[in-house]
Amino acid sequence: MKVLKINGREAKVDVPDDVPLLWVIREELGMCGTKLGCGMALCGACTVHLDGQPVRSCVTPVSAAGGKEITTIEGLSLDGSHPLQQAWLKENVPQCGYCQSGQIMQAAALLKDKPKPTDEEITAAMAGNLCRCGTYGRIRAAIKRAAGT
Ligand code: FES
Ligand code: FES
Repeated sequence: MKVLKINGREAKVDVPDDVPLLWVIREELGMCGTKLGCGMALCGACTVHLDGQPVRSCVTPVSAAGGKEITTIEGLSLDGSHPLQQAWLKENVPQCGYCQSGQIMQAAALLKDKPKPTDEEITAAMAGNLCRCGTYGRIRAAIKRAAGT
């Protein structure tokens, strides 16, 4: 039995060490905001935070999350009031929506690290998060809106 710290609470799960964190989040804990895209660390749809750092949960074994604070899109704010979530609404970012929780989690880590990122820093931070609907322009606009730049 493992005890995970996730979104400010503790959760007990009985899974092998090598099960990807994404599976635990979705299948064991029933939180479906974090998506499975490629399953190979190539798209960013599964991005969550471990102690504030963005990780691809599809390739992160649950054992790597032991003792760390896991944050998923459900835990980014209690009521959708995070500045990025508000900016995403204002800019009407999503199309199909599938990639968007990963995009927001990646952007949230960026703004925590660099509250006023340059265009180049946004490009570098978001390069690994793919969007098949091509919402890149709106994602950038939303990040800049949230950053107030
Ligand atoms: S599903 Fe994890 S990076 Fe694509
Ligand atoms: S909004 Fe459809 S994949 Fe990004």
